[in-house]
Amino acid sequence: VTADCKRNLPRVAVVGATGYAGAELVRILAGHPKVQLACLTSRQHVGVDFADIYPAMKNVVAHKCLAYDPEILADKADIVFIALPHKLPMQFVPQLLAKGLKVIDLSADFRFRNVEAYVQAYQQHTCPDLLQEAVYGLSEIYADRIGKARLVGNPGCYPTSILLPLIPVVRKGWVDLQTLVADSKSGVSGAGATATPTTHYCRVNESFKAYKVAAHRHQPEITEVLVREAGCEVKLTFVPHLIPMTRGMESTIYADLTEPVDEQQVIECLRETYGSDGFVRICGNRPPDTLDVRGTIYCDIGVVVDDRNNKLILMSAIDNLVKGAAGQAVQNMNLMLGLEPPAGLENPPFPV
Ligand SMILES: NC(=O)c1ccc[n+]([C@@H]2O[C@H](COP(=O)([O-])OP(=O)(O)OC[C@H]3O[C@@H](n4cnc5c(N)ncnc54)[C@H](OP(=O)(O)O)[C@@H]3O)[C@@H](O)[C@H]2O)c1
Repeated sequence: VTADCKRNLPRVAVVGATGYAGAELVRILAGHPKVQLACLTSRQHVGVDFADIYPAMKNVVAHKCLAYDPEILADKADIVFIALPHKLPMQFVPQLLAKGLKVIDLSADFRFRNVEAYVQAYQQHTCPDLLQEAVYGLSEIYADRIGKARLVGNPGCYPTSILLPLIPVVRKGWVDLQTLVADSKSGVSGAGATATPTTHYCRVNESFKAYKVAAHRHQPEITEVLVREAGCEVKLTFVPHLIPMTRGMESTIYADLTEPVDEQQVIECLRETYGSDGFVRICGNRPPDTLDVRGTIYCDIGVVVDDRNNKLILMSAIDNLVKGAAGQAVQNMNLMLGLEPPAGLENPPFPV
């Protein structure tokens, strides 16, 4: 689709376009047939061609990075993605909404309804009123509300990989909500573009470790959603791990069953929730593989019932940068703009 053909399409901006989530947004939006990429912002790279920062984008993206300026964004765009570290978006979002823009924020700033939970996990919130208005952007689950929203808090990558398999069985009342354990593994791009001593190649290559054990900020995010779904207290132990790959996330979730439910019933329940031709693919009792979802919007889910121990084991695989961040954000944009859900997200997966 040429730039000319796109002239009358909705205009989108990416704030924080040079980060890993932002660059992934640019990649997806550049190939989106129903919107035009209007404006990219950066703090460190103002005036620099995006394709000079990410050479893969040469002849694909012609934009230069601009400085963040709400006036320019309001002039150039209809909808804004914010891909900045948490704390910054809450400073920018009120002014963008006041200018009539729709906003999808990829940080944690608008994921919580409970201000105290956000404050405990992150920091003071400077616009708590907006937390009541913002819609949690778990696309398959909250599509109706997302479609009417002007502000979406895009979910974290771990929460997406844990909530999509769990919510349908929680709604059925099949799992004991006091016994949830989620064991997740993430590729290193989940930590963003700036290397730290723990994400440096020499510390990650040929290594595999847990981190922030039972102390990760995504735990309260997941719990808040599950409590809302279940209407009662939920106890979830969440242990994330870092694995030596660039993109990809796998979560294995364990829960005691509250009644004798077999694998086929759980598989049917997931199929009823997600359909057979959407972005959540049910793999039966085959463990899903991050390789099969790499670079795509898919979330693959496998189910095993361990009868001897009365345990339900759910396994999910996503690409942390796509379904876990930029892809789900574009899925939410499609809902907000009334576009077909797969628009811009239909690239076939790599077979290997
Ligand atoms: N990576 C993932 O898998 C993932 C998954 C889900 C959600 N997210 C969320 O997406 C957001 C971005 O994450 P990321 O992984 O893309 O991080 P990142 O690679 O570190 O990118 C951060 C971006 O924010 C900009 N930035 C940083 N500090 C800034 C400041 N003080 N003022 C203005 N701009 C600033 C950077 O701009 P310049 O360097 O150009 O100046 C860069 O474009 C985070 O909120 C993260 O939680 C990420």
